[in-house]
Amino acid sequence: MDSEKMDQMMKERCKEAERILKEYLPDVCGMQKTVLEAMEYSVMAGGKRLRPILLLESYRIFGGTGKVAEPFAAALEMIHTYSLVHDDLPSMDNDMYRRGKLTTHAKYGEAMGILAGDGLLTYAFETAGKAFQMTDDAARVGRAMQVLAGKAGIYGMLGGQVIDVESEGKPGMTLEKITRIHTLKTAALIESALMIGAILAGAEEERICQMEQVARNVGIAFQIRDDILDVTSSQEVLGKPIGSDAKNQKVTYLTLQGMDASEAEVHRLSDEAVTLLAQMPGDTSFLEELVRVLTVREK
Ligand code: IPE
Ligand code: IPE
Ligand code: MG
Ligand code: MG
Ligand code: MG
Repeated sequence: MDSEKMDQMMKERCKEAERILKEYLPDVCGMQKTVLEAMEYSVMAGGKRLRPILLLESYRIFGGTGKVAEPFAAALEMIHTYSLVHDDLPSMDNDMYRRGKLTTHAKYGEAMGILAGDGLLTYAFETAGKAFQMTDDAARVGRAMQVLAGKAGIYGMLGGQVIDVESEGKPGMTLEKITRIHTLKTAALIESALMIGAILAGAEEERICQMEQVARNVGIAFQIRDDILDVTSSQEVLGKPIGSDAKNQKVTYLTLQGMDASEAEVHRLSDEAVTLLAQMPGDTSFLEELVRVLTVREK
């Protein structure tokens, strides 16, 4: 696929994700208006919308045609955004900019930042639950909810954040540990995206497992690239401050292995993901191209 066509497709998919998000975000009104406004502020601030795009694409690859994946796409972006809102808090990475705007706590105060994150996490499951009314196959929706919860929680993203903050400034970081952190804090939500799309479309068990593996590679590569950009990019391009990892004394793949080995690892993991995808039934060409584009992403 040429890069112009890919750019065009990414714009369309991003628009689709934002249309769905707007449809499922709660109205900003009532006595709790401030938290609803903060939730909308953080979600609609922009962002690549990678996770909903991946979820909807996986659903399509396995033949899904209905709307049942849409509440899940919205829910996953809500969970991802909550993870960013809390990641930026003063007691966590203490960052003031995100997606080119003030972070939620910087704009609405710390208490409202915490509550907006909590609100997004809870509302995500309220939203995903709407899929039960949109299908004849409640078991698939139930399984998808379970995957979403598992990959977001203590055995997934949240668990990774715990190890990440506990490791700050401490000696003894190893390659194994850093990979564990990346697998949990970043790959887990990406795994949920590709798995949930496949589950809702009724893919076979083996395919769901393969999508999990593809996403694990993509997720680890995505975080190594994020750590590289934290050193080499600029706030103007990234929309978030650079140097956040050094400021918080994080040992990253980059500080452990150096630039060349880090870039090589991003490519190795992504190539492996593309090879796995190429063996799948269905048209995986857009997803393969997306994995390639992510290896050289600038933001
Ligand atoms: C940022 O995720 C947090 C990481 C897992 C590195 P994204 O880079 O997908 O952030 P947005 O959604 O585009 O803002
Ligand atoms: C956080 O990793 C991943 C999350 C689960 C939020 P980072 O702390 O590196 O993410 P950024 O760089 O702030 O987006
Ligand atoms: Mg962090
Ligand atoms: Mg951070
Ligand atoms: Mg980072």
